[in-house]
Amino acid sequence: APVSQHYRIGFSQCTNGDAWRQAMLAGMKKELSFYPQVNFRMKDAHDNSALQRRHIQEFLNEGVDLLIVSANQAEPITPIVEEAFNRGVPVVILDRRTTSKLYTAYVGGNNLEVGQTAGNYASSLLRQRGNVLEVLGAAGASPAEDRHRGFVQGLAAYPGMRLVAQVQGDWKRPSVLRALPAVLRAHPEVDLIFAHNDRMALGAYQVCKQLGLDRRIRIIGVDGLAGPQGGIQLVQDKVLTATLLYSPGGEEAIRTAMKILQKQPFEKENILSTMVIDSTNVLTMKMQTEKLGSQQQDIQRQQQLLREQLATYASQQTVLYILAAA
Ligand code: FRU
Repeated sequence: APVSQHYRIGFSQCTNGDAWRQAMLAGMKKELSFYPQVNFRMKDAHDNSALQRRHIQEFLNEGVDLLIVSANQAEPITPIVEEAFNRGVPVVILDRRTTSKLYTAYVGGNNLEVGQTAGNYASSLLRQRGNVLEVLGAAGASPAEDRHRGFVQGLAAYPGMRLVAQVQGDWKRPSVLRALPAVLRAHPEVDLIFAHNDRMALGAYQVCKQLGLDRRIRIIGVDGLAGPQGGIQLVQDKVLTATLLYSPGGEEAIRTAMKILQKQPFEKENILSTMVIDSTNVLTMKMQTEKLGSQQQDIQRQQQLLREQLATYASQQTVLYILAAA
């Protein structure tokens, strides 16, 4: 492709208010640094589907060349994404899906599999017999629906496993702190809690601790982020028994977007793999993510140096030009 191509990418993000989304954005920016000719803009919908619809409409009016969308809720975002696709604007769906097949590519985990794996893991933890409580992600978001369906399917293989209660969360910890105590009091038989992400799993732990149930009830989360409040640390600290790795996929989303824009071959479904992180592998995971983190910092430092050298070079050119003109 000619270097003069200045692509415009619009990223409609359902929220940018948590560490997982920020890791996604950091991954995107890292990959975008290889394409200085790309104009990339993000609009943060703050968990509001109506606002997200407006954002996508604005991007279309501005005439972006490609859209990346992580849909707050599947149903309300579907018509505007279909409209974009039908107008010929390529759409990369990232993590949270719409309900439609009308998109150019998907990048993200297989949430049905995340739920199934959680169900199987819970069954083996409890030796195929026990009572389970599920804390759901926000209603209408595709990962919450798929994780739930997968979890029920996973448990169904074991007749001794029973899903006895649910808490409707919103991906955030406070929703669990509010709703879980009453549900746990009504269900003293609960042996294990599966929460749809690690933030809500941490909330579940705090409630269990308050009620003196933290030694009895095991907790499983999803995400497995690195960092101080991340799932890897929570597993290492034995706050969570396990978490399911769910990668934010920022790098992969930009890579797929660039293939589409440059008319290179690409896959429609780009599924990022999941795995259980528990006491058996948490140290390995921690070491690997720390190493990755320090390598990313090296890359950022090198990019900074390069920018400084380019700036020095540019000002030297100016001096030469002035001297020559004098
Ligand atoms: C972050 C998050 C993650 C979760 C994902 C699902 O905003 O809530 O914790 O895995 O979104 O879309």
